[in-house]
Amino acid sequence: MGAFISGLGFYVPDQVVTNDDLTKVMDTSDEWIRERTGIEERHYAKRHEDSTVSLAAHASRIAIERAGLQPADIDLIVFATLSPDYFFPGCGVLLQRELGITANACPALDIRAQCSGFIYAMNVANQFSLAGIYKNILVVGAEVHSMGLDYTTEGRNVTVIFGDGAGAAVLQKSEDPQKGILAASMHSDGTYAEELAFINPGCHGGRYGDTEKYGYDNSVPYGGTFLTETMYRDGLLYPLMNGQFVFKNAVRRMPEAVHEVFDMAGLPISELKLLIPHQANLRISTFVQHSLRLRDDQVYNNIQKYGNTTAASIPIALTEAYEAGMIQEGDLVCMVSFGSGFTWGAVLMRW
Ligand code: ACO
Repeated sequence: MGAFISGLGFYVPDQVVTNDDLTKVMDTSDEWIRERTGIEERHYAKRHEDSTVSLAAHASRIAIERAGLQPADIDLIVFATLSPDYFFPGCGVLLQRELGITANACPALDIRAQCSGFIYAMNVANQFSLAGIYKNILVVGAEVHSMGLDYTTEGRNVTVIFGDGAGAAVLQKSEDPQKGILAASMHSDGTYAEELAFINPGCHGGRYGDTEKYGYDNSVPYGGTFLTETMYRDGLLYPLMNGQFVFKNAVRRMPEAVHEVFDMAGLPISELKLLIPHQANLRISTFVQHSLRLRDDQVYNNIQKYGNTTAASIPIALTEAYEAGMIQEGDLVCMVSFGSGFTWGAVLMRW
């Protein structure tokens, strides 16, 4: 038996930004956003107050307390994010410092698998647990997108989708053979890396095709490519997304991943109590639901309130569903994701 979740927590910043609020800064509408994505509002971090790590710390403290532990009991941190506080070091060590658990020098690692970050992090944590190496593992997904979005009309197709937040889970080795992770999968295909990507600033040095538009400074002997004035001036510093292509791949890969973990566990999908899909877009979740022939009560969605919080979306939704009493002892719960990379995967657990 794999690890089980002994504590869950989530946190979103206080600042609520509605679709109508966004219409004040870009050419969009509440109707367009609701129809295409299901999103009604999202939470944004506050300047000088919140960061990916601070949101993660809030969520982690709740999860650790609910697991009946102290921060000092954590012996591995696995942190998934695509919006880290710093380019380096990673958020894992910053969270360790924020939680005041440096005395035990526990390892803290970062996972870079974007929307699938939490699924990848659970896979990694589960393997360390199965191997008996670490006992109390803190798995976190956290994002602050709002500090890195393009708030002009040019960026509207991406900007309206994303929100900030954090979710955390404490994983422990299951002593009960009926309880814990039954199967977990993770996949990637780098062929389409640029279809959903945040490319600049970066160390790519212009080697991926036509990057003349980035305005590299060729008068200097080395470097001159990481961040240029042209990138700043021409708004080339933001996430890019081929929305329809991402959509098509997501609705294919997410059901595949769910089938895969049920097959691995030798169980029929009909026994599923609750599916927690990555909250990419309500239309994607609905497609996945229909493709798996699931009832409304078997799929949890909360993108309406939070937008797409990438690595944080699954732990936020899982915590909310648990707090709402939708998950009970013995229930089969499946989490599934798809995102930039492309990356995808699923985790099937017996609660
Ligand atoms: N407000 C108003 N109009 C907009 C907006 C906006 N925010 N964004 C785009 N438009 C316009 C476009 O400019 C375009 O106008 P045009 O026809 O005059 O050129 C029109 O709306 C249609 O644009 P499309 O990009 O073709 O819109 P589409 O129907 O594909 O919807 C969306 C876009 C919602 C992004 C859709 O492609 C989608 O759901 N894709 C899935 C991607 C996704 O969910 N990504 C989340 C992150 S990835 C992940 O988590 C897996």
